[in-house]
Amino acid sequence: MKMNNVIFIMGVSGCGKTTIGKLLSEELSLPFFDADDFHSVANIKKMSEGKPLNDTDREGWLKIINKLAIDQSLKKGCVIACSALKEHYRFILSTKLETNAKWVYLSGSFEDVYNQISERKNHFMPSELLQSQFEILEVPANAIEVSITNSPLEIIKIIKKQYMKSEFGLFGLGVMGKSLTRNLANNGFKISMFNRHVAGVSENVAVNFKNEHDELSNTLAFDNIEAFVNSLQTPRKIMLMVNAGKVTDYVIEDLLPYLSEGDTLIDGGNSNYKKTKERSAYLKSKNIYFIGTGVSGGEEGALKGPSIMPGGSKETYESIAPFLNAIAAKDKNNLPCCTYIGPDGSGHFVKMVHNGIEYAEMQLLAEVYVILKELGNIPDEIADILESWKASASSYLLEITIDILRKKEGDDWLVNKIMDKAGNKGTGNWTTIATAELGVSSSLIASALFARYTSFYKEERVQLNKLYDKQTQTPKITVAEVFETYQFARIVNHYQGIKLIAEASKAFEWHINLSEMARIWTNGCIIRSTFMEELVEILKETDNILTNSVIVDQTKSLKPSANKVIAQCALAELPIVCMSESVNFFNGLTTADSSANIIQAQRDYFGSHTYQRLDDESGAFYHTEWINE
Ligand code: 6PG
Repeated sequence: MKMNNVIFIMGVSGCGKTTIGKLLSEELSLPFFDADDFHSVANIKKMSEGKPLNDTDREGWLKIINKLAIDQSLKKGCVIACSALKEHYRFILSTKLETNAKWVYLSGSFEDVYNQISERKNHFMPSELLQSQFEILEVPANAIEVSITNSPLEIIKIIKKQYMKSEFGLFGLGVMGKSLTRNLANNGFKISMFNRHVAGVSENVAVNFKNEHDELSNTLAFDNIEAFVNSLQTPRKIMLMVNAGKVTDYVIEDLLPYLSEGDTLIDGGNSNYKKTKERSAYLKSKNIYFIGTGVSGGEEGALKGPSIMPGGSKETYESIAPFLNAIAAKDKNNLPCCTYIGPDGSGHFVKMVHNGIEYAEMQLLAEVYVILKELGNIPDEIADILESWKASASSYLLEITIDILRKKEGDDWLVNKIMDKAGNKGTGNWTTIATAELGVSSSLIASALFARYTSFYKEERVQLNKLYDKQTQTPKITVAEVFETYQFARIVNHYQGIKLIAEASKAFEWHINLSEMARIWTNGCIIRSTFMEELVEILKETDNILTNSVIVDQTKSLKPSANKVIAQCALAELPIVCMSESVNFFNGLTTADSSANIIQAQRDYFGSHTYQRLDDESGAFYHTEWINE
């Protein structure tokens, strides 16, 4: 059922809510309600005795007003004057109204309000209680704020002007920008959207896009930056959906002359987390807030609900959270797949590692395909096999791979016609750099990235294939063993990706909640899977998933198949870099006495780099003259 907007006029007692609410309701031809009329007799008595209401007194009252608001929202909407001083009160008031609850905050200093209240008669709250109101006031992050120093008519003018403006701006109507705009509009937000004008290349993109979709009828479309910025309520909230890299900086520079202090820019592209930190500091110097957020889910996810990973200041995040939460995918408990990740570039870092995990998961499926093909299966048969894996290893990437393998073009499968050179846009590269910089061994991500690079040597591969006779023996393995190897490698991949985030979180003091992070990866994003759902619980107990008893049992039972499959594939000369690396990495990680003693001795031999001794617990460093003169 269609719901309409309910405009709450809020602020401390005496700020003029009733006057403004009535005037606004007349202007907008909407019914007006004064929340004070819904107080219980007991509450009124308490207030007239000069006693402030406590939260219990308020709870029932707020719920009654919320019910009234929902009823009115289902009719034509209304205006309600209500102090709504705390975030919690506003939460109760807007329950089930979601984005249809709109807030107008009448702001003023104690003196402004005191003077105004002193002039009023027959009000049941004595002015002396005003102080207690200011003490509990939590200034709303998402309200049209108007100073009461303006006259009532001016206030109405400002509210109307702001109310007619858009709540949120979307800059850049590429594939993701378009889908996110539709998603925001579908969630009832008033949106302004912008796409640049390039003569002969991109003209009237925003207007044409608006005309293509009914849900965009209420949006404002621009190809002029100034008009776009001016169409937004202040403080403005603008999401940038542009190509990551230099373009993001150019766009920021283009926007800056038109922005005002306190506006927020949200970078939703796959930006490098280090650049996000730099941009954040740069914009802070201009009094503009900045959030760098990962958005995962591709075109469909962006439209129906992506997974969103915002990083930046918590306060700024809170101000945009209602928008992000509304458009995000929902997890199995109907909670938004969006959570505050942490400060600085943490949101983009987490998205970057998400993509790294994605690279390795994709490569593992590609390796499964290579092996199953080598075992004599055609694409349809491989799809059938993967279909049977869904019962115990369901994931988005597995599902799309099944669809891909079934796709035919004429008599042949489309996969057989696709050039075997894998592209990339940089996030796997950055993850590999980050893993090296932080001293963490996310080797499956690196292997998956390098496999893409090797794939690009197509001509050299063809040439060398002729020079080196390849083994043609078929691996002596079963499909069940391939499945177990796949599962084993996925555990290692997730261990490594999560470890990288955990170490970055420690190094940069981001305090990332890993379980929450896994939770927002259970839906909307590319690496969503049933395994990710298991990890949500496991990560509540430990940062190291390999120490969880269920994972220990699973890994132990999968390992023999993994050993066999990589050995057989080595004999058959099949390139399965991620599967092999998962076994080798795991063997290294579970070896108590490693070969690093030799490395240390070598380092000391040629460079006097010193070494520590197992028989000296003090940790002292030793040097040896290795050659006896
Ligand atoms: C997502 C994807 C998305 C995009 C990557 C792919 O989470 O929705 O990861 O961000 O598909 O940019 O990156 P490559 O082009 O590097 O494979």
